Amino acid sequence: MTEPRTILAIESSCDETAAAIVRGREVIAEAVATQAELHERFGGVVPEIASRRHLELVDIVVRDVLERSGLERVEAVDAVAVTRGPGLVGALLVGIAAAKARAWAAGVPLVPVDHLLGHVASALLDPEAQLEPPFLCVLVSGGHTLVLDVDEHMALELLGTTRDDAAGEAFYKGARLLGLDMPGGPALSALAATADRRDAVEFTPAMVHHDTLDTSFSGIKTALAVALRERAASGTDGPSDAQLAAAFEDAVVATISGSVRKLLRQRGPSSGHAAARDRMAIVGGVAANATLRTRMAEICREFDVESVHAPLRWCGDNAAMIGVAAQFCPEQAGPDAWQLDAYATTPLFREGKLVPN
Ligand code: KG4
Ligand code: ZN
Repeated sequence: MTEPRTILAIESSCDETAAAIVRGREVIAEAVATQAELHERFGGVVPEIASRRHLELVDIVVRDVLERSGLERVEAVDAVAVTRGPGLVGALLVGIAAAKARAWAAGVPLVPVDHLLGHVASALLDPEAQLEPPFLCVLVSGGHTLVLDVDEHMALELLGTTRDDAAGEAFYKGARLLGLDMPGGPALSALAATADRRDAVEFTPAMVHHDTLDTSFSGIKTALAVALRERAASGTDGPSDAQLAAAFEDAVVATISGSVRKLLRQRGPSSGHAAARDRMAIVGGVAANATLRTRMAEICREFDVESVHAPLRWCGDNAAMIGVAAQFCPEQAGPDAWQLDAYATTPLFREGKLVPN
């Protein structure tokens, strides 16, 4: 990395409107306005409502970080970074339009950033780990479950992905079956922590073919639905909601850790692989899960790999991670910048590699 740039970053890919001022790895100011309550009664994020709310909030969060950083004006930053995708296209376009306008008016370049690269870069925000690429990474969020190799330039190579739901989506669906609030994961995990572990229930983690690092979560969701149905039909007390939540969480964590164990066997320091790595980052909204954090640390220790968890406050969507990722991405100015468009899915993964550009 060259001289750290001071960056104003904007993130609006889903239901968080966020802005941050970042210099290198240092987060100078940040603001995240969540819309979770707005979507609660619909049982999921409604794209059109999300876009409209981003429109109301984006200038507020940008003004807030400019003021709190003491920079005051966009002219004082080196570039404006913005999440380009993947995400809800209408929501992304609000952030992109705001970033273009701010950058154009101030005469500074624009840096489009992939949201997934942002999550990966959140591991660089851990002040103790001082993580530098290359490393291995597991990205577990509401939209993705990715096993990645991150090279020295922060180019991402896709090594494994989910065959069906993402880990966060599984948590969300499991939570809904248990009648818990959105976004599901934290509530399900809190309920699981209260479970009486005597007479514990177990769900089988999904076994995808042994040659692949891919994961699958839909079977665990079905197992929970069946258990709830059987409990209702039996007319007896059966396993408690907390016990079912614990079984569900354990099976999701076991599925992710099964893939990580295979990954470390293939790419850990003792694997003999040409691109063996001795560090592993765990990032994304689901990386906030305490059971997963503990399990990942245990597995990494077993393989002599240093585990680096994204700091809790930067696991979920935020703009600080976009600002840090932007340090690795080229800036754009002139017509290229003003024609920048959003994308719903990460296009470069089709070729197996996501190069920051
Ligand atoms: O990364 P993120 O904020 O958004 C996406 O880019 O998708 O991830 C949000 C997901 C939600 O599905 C939420 O339920 C899950 O992260 N999540 C958790 C926890 N905290 C957030 N899942 C399990 N345990 C948690 N403690
Ligand atoms: Zn995200």
